[in-house]
Amino acid sequence: MQVLSVASEVYPLVKTGGLADVAGALPLALGRHGVSVRTLMPGYPAVMQAVRDAVPVLRIEDLLGAKANILLAKHQGLDLLILDCPAFFDRPGGPYVDAGGQDHADNWRRFAALSKAGATIAQQGIDGWRPDLVHVHDWQAAMLPAYMRYAAEPEIPSLITIHNIAFQGQFGADIFPHLQLPPHAFAMDGVEYYGGVGFLKAGLQTSWAISTVSPSYAEEILEPEFGMGLEGLLNHRASSLTGIVNGIDTEVWNPETDSNLSAYYGSATLEAREANKRALAERFGLAEDDGPLFCVISRLTWQKGMDLLAETVDDLVALGGRLAVLGSGDRGLESAFLAAAEKHPGRVGIVTGYDEPLSHLMQGGADAIVIPSRFEPCGLTQLYGLRYGCVPVVARTGGLNDTVIDASPAALAAKAATGVSFGPATPDNLRRALRRTVRLYQDPKLWTAIQKQGMKSDVSWEMSAGLYAALYSQLLVKKGA
Ligand code: ADP
Ligand code: GLC
Repeated sequence: MQVLSVASEVYPLVKTGGLADVAGALPLALGRHGVSVRTLMPGYPAVMQAVRDAVPVLRIEDLLGAKANILLAKHQGLDLLILDCPAFFDRPGGPYVDAGGQDHADNWRRFAALSKAGATIAQQGIDGWRPDLVHVHDWQAAMLPAYMRYAAEPEIPSLITIHNIAFQGQFGADIFPHLQLPPHAFAMDGVEYYGGVGFLKAGLQTSWAISTVSPSYAEEILEPEFGMGLEGLLNHRASSLTGIVNGIDTEVWNPETDSNLSAYYGSATLEAREANKRALAERFGLAEDDGPLFCVISRLTWQKGMDLLAETVDDLVALGGRLAVLGSGDRGLESAFLAAAEKHPGRVGIVTGYDEPLSHLMQGGADAIVIPSRFEPCGLTQLYGLRYGCVPVVARTGGLNDTVIDASPAALAAKAATGVSFGPATPDNLRRALRRTVRLYQDPKLWTAIQKQGMKSDVSWEMSAGLYAALYSQLLVKKGA
C-alpha cells in the first residue's frame, strides 16, 4: 500500500511540537507494516538546506499565484516530497511565524498551497508514483481532501488526523476567491465555516475518515467543552472518527544510547541517572540535594496548565522538591517562572527557548515530569518520561489518561503503576498530586518499581502503526465498494 502523508512540520527537519515527532516517526513504523509512505512538506529554509540533493519531479506554474516545484528527497529513512515554493516558504522565522514571532499574514495561502499541491499529487500521481490513500495532519494540510473533492479527477481515500482541535485555521470569506476552488465549494458541506473559511472544518467535512491521537480525546472532542465549536460536525461524523494513541521513536529516545545524556542507563542500572541529575541541576543552577527533582518540557500555555504549576511552585519547594522548567510561550508565564526562580534560588530554574538536546537530558536526569494540561490530545513528553524512568505526574485528560497508570493503592499492589495522575486540573489537585509524588519518592523501593514499570510500558509505534495500517485497509475496501 502506498500512502501520501502531508504535514507542516516533520522531525528531524523542522519541529515546533509533537506533530513533527509523529509525522517523522509514523512513516518509519508503517514501513514495518508493509505501508510505504511519502511525506509532503513545505520547503522552509532549514528543509532546503538539509536536502541539497533533492531532485525536481513536478513543476507547478500557478500554485495560488506562485511558481512551485515538487522535489523528491530522502532524509534519515524518510521519503520526502518537498514543496519548493520560495514565495511562500523561503523566509526567516518559524514555520508559522515571522522572526518577530507574529503569524505570517498569508498563512492561509501558504497552507492552502500545501494542500492543493498534495491534492494534485494524490489525484495525478508524481514521477510514476501513485498513492492509494492520503493521510493529512492538522489544519495546515486539512484543505487537501476538499481540493480533491472539487477537482476534475476522481478522489482517492483520505484520512485526516486531528492533533489539536484548538488550532483550526479559520479565515475570513475574503480569502475564498483566491483559493482556486469553484464557487459551490463555499458551502456548509464544503469549506464554509460561520461565514468564513475553515480549513480544519473543511478537512473534517470532506475526508473519508477522521482520527485523533488518543481514544480519550476522540470521545472528549464530541463534547462542547473540548470540541471548540466542531463538536456538532464531529458528532455527525462520529462513526468515521477513531482515536489512535501516538507512539514515540524508541531509537531517538533510548536512554541506553542517547548521546545527549551524561550517563547511559537502562532499567537495571537506574543509579546511573544520578550523573544526569547532577548535570541537569548544574545546567539549571539548582542546589545539590537528595530531594525529588521535577521537570517541565513544554509550550508555556494555558492548554498545558502552566499557570496551575506557577501557582503551586511554592508548595513544590516547601515539599522539598526542586523544579527545572524548559519552555517558551506566553510572556506572562515565562515571567511567572522567572519570578519563581528568583524567589527560590537553587530550588527553581528556568531555561526559556527551545532546546532538543537539553530536553533529552531532562528526561534522563529528572525524577518526575509534570504535565498538568487542561486538555491534551495525546502528549508525548509523558511517553518520553515513561521510557526514561522520569515518572509522569499528569492531569487525567486525553492521551495522558490513556498512557499513564496512576499509583493508586490497587495499581501499586498489582505492580502496574507507572505515574501519578490527578483531575480535574486545578491548583489544589495538582498540589495534592505533587505531595503524593513526594511521598512515593521517599519510599525508594516503591519509586524504583514505578520507574521500572514505566520503562516496561510499550510506548513504541508498533501497536498504533498497526492500527493505522488497518484503518487504511478499511478505507481501501470502502473505495472498492
Ligand atoms: P504539543 O505538541 O502540544 O506541544 P507534545 O507533548 O505532543 O505537545 O509534544 C511536544 C514536543 O515538543 C515533545 O517532543 C517535547 O519534548 C518538545 N518540546 C516542547 N517544548 C520544548 C522545548 N522548550 N525544548 C525542547 N523540546 C520541547
Ligand atoms: C498536538 C497535541 C499533543 C499531541 C501532538 C502530537 O500538538 O497538543 O497532545 O501529542 O499534537 O499528536
